[in-house]
Amino acid sequence: MPLVETTPPRALPEIETEGFQRLPVSMGELRRVLGGGIVPGMGVLVGGEPGIGKSTLLLQLAAELANRVGPTLYVTGEESAQQVKLRAQRLGITAPQLYILAEIHLETILQHIETMDPTLVVVDSIQAIYSDALPAAAGNVSQVRECAARLLRLTKAHHIPLFLVGHVTKEGTIAGPRVLEHMVDTVLYFEGERFHSYRVLRAVKNRFGSTNEVGIFEMGEKGLQEVPNPSAAFLAERLPNAAGSAIAVTMEGTRPLLIEVQALTSTTSFSQPRRTANGVEFNRLLLLTAVLTKRVGLRLSDQDVFVNVVGGLRVDEPAADLAVATAIASSVRNVPVPADVVLIGEVGLSGELRSVAHLPRRLQEAANLGFSRAVVPRTGASKLKEDGSTLRLVKARTLSEALEAVLDS
Ligand code: TYD
Ligand code: MG
Repeated sequence: MPLVETTPPRALPEIETEGFQRLPVSMGELRRVLGGGIVPGMGVLVGGEPGIGKSTLLLQLAAELANRVGPTLYVTGEESAQQVKLRAQRLGITAPQLYILAEIHLETILQHIETMDPTLVVVDSIQAIYSDALPAAAGNVSQVRECAARLLRLTKAHHIPLFLVGHVTKEGTIAGPRVLEHMVDTVLYFEGERFHSYRVLRAVKNRFGSTNEVGIFEMGEKGLQEVPNPSAAFLAERLPNAAGSAIAVTMEGTRPLLIEVQALTSTTSFSQPRRTANGVEFNRLLLLTAVLTKRVGLRLSDQDVFVNVVGGLRVDEPAADLAVATAIASSVRNVPVPADVVLIGEVGLSGELRSVAHLPRRLQEAANLGFSRAVVPRTGASKLKEDGSTLRLVKARTLSEALEAVLDS
């Protein structure tokens, strides 16, 4: 059976989009990853490692909609109703219209959804639910798939938005939420280091908005709070003029983000020097150390190199290369990068700086946060006008030129 209602073919102008009014979500960061709000009948998968904050976020969301729109249903398959209540109390949630159902039997859950017809359904988690239709145990791939399909079919028919929680483990994600990605409209993954307070909610699929959008939250005493100005937050603890620190401007979806990259190099006590990457890809770090050695002449063969992105963030973008390489060089030479400089550019194998997308937007964000100089690839910057922004551009052709400009002045 299909997940979407079947109707005869209709001419495009005759299709109504009325039912398509998005439900408001007050947290701007959540609204952003959802593509502007909640669409009736939308199926959302929220994945993430245990303890990252999935239950907290969805309880907050269910409470908000209960207070603003109408009764919502939170199905808890892992915690008791009392545990959910305790969490709600901790969060300061009073929502008379929020209904908690502690149940793992699919057919019973479906029945309650039909009779209650809520504004929103949360199922926490899909791995805890089982159906009589299959002999397999809950959490088994076939159970996960079957339960999700039937929940989606029912909620779509009633235009009820459905949020499914799926646990992802660091190792195998085989029986995890991956198998559901093609069935739902939107897939959100919660990321972050458990011992950091920042959480990144990333849209990896969205039929109702753009993908790659991220929302930034902070886990605190009162649950998840949005971080409306993440660049400023990520730079808040920075020590100006410390060697080994450089500021990159990355794009997360449509939003530029300023982040601090830290590097520490120290003489190794091993025959093989160590490289440790936190928040940047390990192979990217190896590549950059090779370029620094071969093209810049930096001596790294007897140095352990540690690189860390502040705030528990992960940066996959090559545009952060220049900042990573500069942070390493700054640590080796023990010369700080001036505090008013941002570094943007991809580093090629010949040591050349390569242009990156969305340069004007990145520069604007850096200017907004009070930076006064940006080191950028010469190729990409030639088309840029210097006026309009208070930022002075330092155009470099190679990594060596860039390092000279920031470390030798
Ligand atoms: P939780 O939402 O239970 O994670 P998940 O559902 O993804 O497994 O969040 C669990 C963690 O969040 C737990 O370590 C406690 C912490 N936490 C706070 O720091 N503040 C809060 O207000 C709440 C409710 C949880
Ligand atoms: Mg949970």
